[in-house]
Amino acid sequence: MSPTNLVPAPLVAECRAGSPGCLSLDERTTVDARPGAEGVARRLRAMLGPATGLPLADGSGPHSILLRASADVEREYGPEGYRLSTDRSAEDVAVLVEGGSAAGVFWGVQTLRQLLGPDAFRRAPVARGRDWVLPLVTVEDRPRFSWRGMMLDVARHFLPKDDVLRQLDLLAAHKLNVFHFHLTDDQGWRIEIERYPKLTEVGAWRARTKHGHRASPLWDDRPHGGYYTHDDIREIVAYAAERHITVVPEIDIPGHSQAAIAAYPELGNTDVVDTASLTVWDNWGVSPNVLAPGDTTLRFYEGVLEEVLGLFPSVFVHIGGDECPKDQWKESPAAQARIKELGLADEDELQSWFIRHFDRWLADRGRRLIGWDEILEGGLAPGAAVSSWRGYQGGIAAAEAGHDVVMCPEQQVYLDHRQAAGDDEPMPIGYVRTLEDVYRFEPLPPSLGPEAAAHVLGTQANVWTEVMQDRSRVDYQVFPRLAAFAEVAWSALPAPAERDFAGFERRMETHYARLDALGVDYRPPGGPRPWQRRPAPAGMTGSLGRPIEGAPPNV
Ligand code: ACM
Repeated sequence: MSPTNLVPAPLVAECRAGSPGCLSLDERTTVDARPGAEGVARRLRAMLGPATGLPLADGSGPHSILLRASADVEREYGPEGYRLSTDRSAEDVAVLVEGGSAAGVFWGVQTLRQLLGPDAFRRAPVARGRDWVLPLVTVEDRPRFSWRGMMLDVARHFLPKDDVLRQLDLLAAHKLNVFHFHLTDDQGWRIEIERYPKLTEVGAWRARTKHGHRASPLWDDRPHGGYYTHDDIREIVAYAAERHITVVPEIDIPGHSQAAIAAYPELGNTDVVDTASLTVWDNWGVSPNVLAPGDTTLRFYEGVLEEVLGLFPSVFVHIGGDECPKDQWKESPAAQARIKELGLADEDELQSWFIRHFDRWLADRGRRLIGWDEILEGGLAPGAAVSSWRGYQGGIAAAEAGHDVVMCPEQQVYLDHRQAAGDDEPMPIGYVRTLEDVYRFEPLPPSLGPEAAAHVLGTQANVWTEVMQDRSRVDYQVFPRLAAFAEVAWSALPAPAERDFAGFERRMETHYARLDALGVDYRPPGGPRPWQRRPAPAGMTGSLGRPIEGAPPNV
C-alpha cells in the first residue's frame, strides 16, 4: 500500500530509497513505551489488538514499536508533530514513533494504524494468522492548526453516551483534537446540574418533535429526551483526554434557553411572558423566549458553570451568545430598567454586558470564554474568543481586534447542510456543500494580515442535529465530509483552487474501506444507499426538507 493513501495527508511521506519491501507485525512484535508515552501504548494496544489478534506485549528489541516523546521533534514540528519510521534492517527497533509530546506520538500511532490497511480498523480479526504488513517509510508530520474541532449538538437530538464515545474515536482517527459539546438549547438540556435538578427532570424532555425542516407539516409524537449524568460527563472527558481531545462544553446563553426557562420559569422575562406555561420547545428555529437579564439569572448560571468547571478541565468554556432575539427585552420593564441602571445604549449592549459578566467570572477562575460571533455586537469582552459561524466577517473583525478565533462559517462547514442537490438526500436542508466544497474550504481569509492570522486558533465543523435523529443519520451527514475537513485543518494544503481534489478522492478509496471497517454509515460518492434515503412517510410528496431562508440559489 502506498503511504500516499493517508488521510489527512502528512507533511512528508517517503518510501525509503534502497529498501524495497515491507515489514510485518506478528506474534513477536512488542510495544516499548518510554516515559510519558504509556498512555499512547495503551491506546495502540486497544486499537490494534482486537483487529490483529496480536499480543503486542511490552518489550524492547528488534521487533518493537518504540513510542517516545522527543525534544528534537518538538523543536522541528511542535508538540503535536511526529516522526514515524519503519525499518526492517534496524537492529534495535522495527517501528519508531517519536512525537513532540505524547499527543504527537498519539497522532503518529493513528498514522501507523492507517499504514497497516483498512482491516486494522476492525473490532475483531477477519482471519487468524494473516500478515500485517507495513510499507518501509518515513513520515514527518505536523498539524496546520492547534484547534481542529467538531461541534456536536446533542440538544436537538440526544445522542446516547456510547455514541458520543464512538464519535470521539472517529475524531481521533482523523487527528481532530477539539470536541465542542453543545449541551443546551431550546429543545433540551442535556447535562445534569445537581443543584438544579429540574434542568434535567423537566428540561431534558420534550413531548413531541418537528419532523424535518420547521416548515414541514409533520410531527413525531413520541416524547424525546435524555441527558448525561456527572459520571457520564467524567467518562466522556476522560475518554477524550486519552485520545488527546479537549472537550469544550457549551452552555448557550442568553438565547436558545427555552428548555432552562421551562424548568425554572423565573429565568425568563416574567413581566412580559407567562413563562410558567412554557414547555421545552418542540419546533426548530430561534425561540423568542430568552433569559431575563437580571441577578436571578446571573446567580443561577454561575451555579451551573461552577458544576461545569468541576467536570470539564478545558481552558475554553463556550457560552453560546448566538441568535438572541431582543423583542422580550425591548418590551420588558425590568430589562429596560437594567439598561438604564447600567447606563447602556440599547439591548445589544445589554447582551454584551451579560456576556462580559461571564467573561470576567470565567477569567477569575482561570478559564477563557468563547462564544458565537454575535458576542461581537455591543462590544466584545476582553479576552473572549469567537466562533465565527455567520461567515468569515465576525472572525476577521475579532482577529483584527486581537481576539482569538475559531473559523466555522456556516456557508462552508455546517455538516447538517445537504451534500448534494438531489431529491434523494435524506431531509435535505441548507446550502449544498459537497465533499469537494469542504475540501476547498480555507479557514484563513487571504485578507488577514499575519498578526491577525496568528489569532485564528483553527477551525471546526459544526453538526446541528435537527434532522439527525440518531447515530446513523449523524454518520451520514458527517462522513465523508469530516475526512476532507480534517485534511483542511491538519495538512499543509495549497490555496483552494490549487488543491488536488482528484488525488484526495483517490486516497478516499482506501479511506472508505477504513470507514467501512469502523462501521460508519457514510454517504457513498454515488449517493445515498437505499436505507439512507429514508423516503418520506406515506402521503408526503417531495422532500421533507426546505431550503434555509436567505440561502444562495444553490439550495
Ligand atoms: C449557530 O449556528 N446558531 C451558531
